[in-house]
Amino acid sequence: MTDTVAEARAARPRIHHPLPPASWPTRAEATRSRWFSPLRLGRSVVARERTWVPAMVPWRATDDGFVTPDVLDWYARFAAGQPGVLVVEATGIRDIRSGPLLRIGDDRFIPGLEELVRVVRDRSGARTRLFIQIIDFLTVRRRPSPARYFADYLEVTPTLRRRLADALADPRWLDAGEADVRACLARGERPLVEAALGARELEALDRGYRERVWDLDLPHIRELPRALPGLFADAARRAFRAGFDGTELHYAHAYTMASFLSRRNVRGDGYGLTREGRVRLPLEVLAQVRARVPEDHVVGIRYLGDEAIAGGSDVDDAAWFGVRFAAGGADYLSISKGGSFEDARPPRIGEAVYPYTGRSGYECMPTVFSDERGPFGRNVPLAAAVRRAVRAAGFETPVVTSGGIGTFDQAEGILARAEADAVAAARQTLADPDWFAKIRRGDGHLVRRCQFTNYCEGLDQRHKQVTCKLWDRDFSPGDPSVRMSADGARRLVAPPWRAP
Ligand SMILES: Cc1cc2nc3c(=O)[nH]c(=O)nc-3n(C[C@H](O)[C@H](O)[C@H](O)COP(=O)(O)O)c2cc1C
Ligand code: SF4
Repeated sequence: MTDTVAEARAARPRIHHPLPPASWPTRAEATRSRWFSPLRLGRSVVARERTWVPAMVPWRATDDGFVTPDVLDWYARFAAGQPGVLVVEATGIRDIRSGPLLRIGDDRFIPGLEELVRVVRDRSGARTRLFIQIIDFLTVRRRPSPARYFADYLEVTPTLRRRLADALADPRWLDAGEADVRACLARGERPLVEAALGARELEALDRGYRERVWDLDLPHIRELPRALPGLFADAARRAFRAGFDGTELHYAHAYTMASFLSRRNVRGDGYGLTREGRVRLPLEVLAQVRARVPEDHVVGIRYLGDEAIAGGSDVDDAAWFGVRFAAGGADYLSISKGGSFEDARPPRIGEAVYPYTGRSGYECMPTVFSDERGPFGRNVPLAAAVRRAVRAAGFETPVVTSGGIGTFDQAEGILARAEADAVAAARQTLADPDWFAKIRRGDGHLVRRCQFTNYCEGLDQRHKQVTCKLWDRDFSPGDPSVRMSADGARRLVAPPWRAP
């Protein structure tokens, strides 16, 4: 175990929190409630309710990023509960291979996305506003075996030779053959490897190579400010053409745009270092996106209320960014937390680092095994702080909160205290996509409550089709109406529910 992982674990007491008690409203109470009241988003889109399903990657696209029947089933199942807003998973803006993640980096993806829009519209009875989250991410490679790393990946530079020569107190390493240098390191003890390799080289060995937005020596990274506004704008335009009500810019978690916003962003070309520098590209992207879609197409931003990593952005940054995004024309701000690569657990050899395994990952998808504060509504204060700053600056931009929310009382309390304008629930909606419908009907006691133990997140981590441990196995094997996950473990969508 590395020091950082050990520290993170020691700093996180494991108190097992029970689910919060739930008292469900009658149908009339639900109808009158804040959570089930309309919310205006942007110029003319009105969500019929403030119930919200944030983006969740289910690993159901083709390897080429196309919508599949399983993608359609996944979103149709959420649409059946008729949430006010449903946000489609992080969808790649580039036309590059990225495994079974949806893509929107070319017009050929539009027909599949159109079909997705149609399915959600039909299944929700046109009650659900459908947005799509669009994302850019940098290269993250799998962790290599040490033998492979020293043989093929490590660059033998003069600096490396100098360090090796110093560590071994032997100047012959300054001009030894490259193969000898590699062999020496491959059989070297760990202290020698640590003395010879720089921090990034060690990281590539122990966790897999990972690009940063401040790697200005890499031409494509240097060019991100020129490339990304157009890529995001083209993607948003396709989302509009496919019929989505809105586009959500993914500026959260471990990905490119969050890294620009990060306090750790040390780009020295005007796109880092200061708050003004860090927000510059995110604002340029927003401006170009806004310019490419009609005014009534909602453009929202999901970003971090707190990076939850050492030296990362905090809630003061988030409040400041929120005001800038509101001024830049964002139609809503959806506040998440954490989910960084920086403190992620080192992956096993052959696997890629997963940004939800460290403390910041915990903060993003908190479980019932928590500290004193517990997981429930843990991130609400961040949204509340952003909202206060945005309102104080004179903007009415709605703010969305999420994280550990699974009861009507929680959601209603958040809205009553004006901590947010919409309340999102990812895992609770995965556990029971009908829970909004049940509450609406006064049948809240029938809600299948999420246990917040992250079976689903474990599947996401292994890029396996995401399912919920609470979905029944109550069907005969081979039942053609039930589609199973590739590993045969569970049904691919929540069991059907018929209103009593
Ligand atoms: C399986 C899974 C996939 C997720 N994928 C995304 C994603 O694509 N984009 C995103 O912004 N958040 C993603 N999240 C985070 C959720 O949107 C949400 O912020 C988080 O789960 C905390 O909310 P909850 O407590 O209601 O689950 C994902 C969460 C889960 C469980
Ligand atoms: S697998 Fe667990 S954490 Fe995930 S949605 Fe189901 S009950 Fe909730």
